[in-house]
Amino acid sequence: MLEVRSLTKCYSSVPAVDNVSFSIRPGEVLGYLGPNGSGKSTTVKVITGLLEPTAGTVLFKGTKITDDLAAYKRLVGYVPEEANLYPFLSGLEYLELVSRLRSLPTHLSAKRSEALLELFAMHPHRHTSISAYSKGMRQRILLIAALLHNPELIIFDEPLSGLDVTSALIFRKLVSALSREGKIIFYCSHVLEVVEKVCSHVIILQRGKQVAYGTIEDLKRFQSMPSLEAAFSNLVQEVDTEQSAHAIVDAVISR
Ligand SMILES: Nc1ncnc2c1ncn2[C@@H]1O[C@H](COP(=O)(O)OP(=O)(O)O)[C@@H](O)[C@H]1O
Ligand SMILES: [Mg+2]
Repeated sequence: MLEVRSLTKCYSSVPAVDNVSFSIRPGEVLGYLGPNGSGKSTTVKVITGLLEPTAGTVLFKGTKITDDLAAYKRLVGYVPEEANLYPFLSGLEYLELVSRLRSLPTHLSAKRSEALLELFAMHPHRHTSISAYSKGMRQRILLIAALLHNPELIIFDEPLSGLDVTSALIFRKLVSALSREGKIIFYCSHVLEVVEKVCSHVIILQRGKQVAYGTIEDLKRFQSMPSLEAAFSNLVQEVDTEQSAHAIVDAVISR
C-alpha cells in the first residue's frame, strides 16, 4: 500500500501542496485532479522520491520511502508530465538504457520491449531517433519505459498529453488491466473524462489543498451532481467560463 501522510511541500515558503493525505491499495486507481498549478506534479515528484517534502511522510508497504530510496525506485514506474528523453537515441536505445539503469536482465528487456513496442504501434519507429518523434510517439515511449520493469506502483502525470484517440483508448484499457493485476496506480490529470472511467477513488486538489476525497460515486452524491465534471466544476471553478470566453473574443476582435 502507498500511504501519504500530511504531505506539505513549499517552494520558497509558499506551499504548493498543503497537508495532503491519502492511501492507495493494490488494485486501486486513485485519480488526482485539480486545475493547472494546483500541486499535482509537485505531489508526484515527492511520491516518486525526486523531491523531499517540507513536512509529512510517504510510506510504501509501511516503510518510509526515504529509508531505502534506491530499492523503492525499483518498484516504481513513472510517466512524467514533461518528456526528458535523449533526442539522439532511438526509441529502442532509450528502452535499453532504461532497462540497464533498472538492472533488468537483457533477455527480459528485449522480450518486453519488443512486445510493448508492437502493442503501442511503435515497432516500425524503434530505430528512428527520438528527435524525429511526435509528441504522442514520445509519450508512448515514456509509457513503455515506465512499464518495462513490471513496477508495483505506477504513477502517471498527465499521461494522455499528445496521444491520439486509439492510443488514448488503449491506455484507458491498460490502466484497468493493470489494476486487475493488483498494481497500485496514481493517476494525475486535469482531463476528467478518462478519470471517471478508470479510477476507483479521486482526490480534488485546489491551490495545494485537498478539497474532496472519496469514490466517484461519493463525490457525485455529496455534491448532488450528475457527473464528475459537474462536481469538479462546482468545487474548483472560480471563473464564469461562458463570460471568460466572450471576453476573450471581444479582446481578439477589438479595434
Ligand atoms: N520548481 C518550482 N519552484 C517554484 N515554484 C514551483 C516549482 N514547481 C512548481 N511550482 C509552483 O507550485 C505550484 C504547483 O505546481 P504544480 O505542482 O506543477 O501544479 P500542477 O501539476 O497541478 O499543474 C504552482 O503555483 C507552481 O507555479
Ligand atoms: Mg502538472
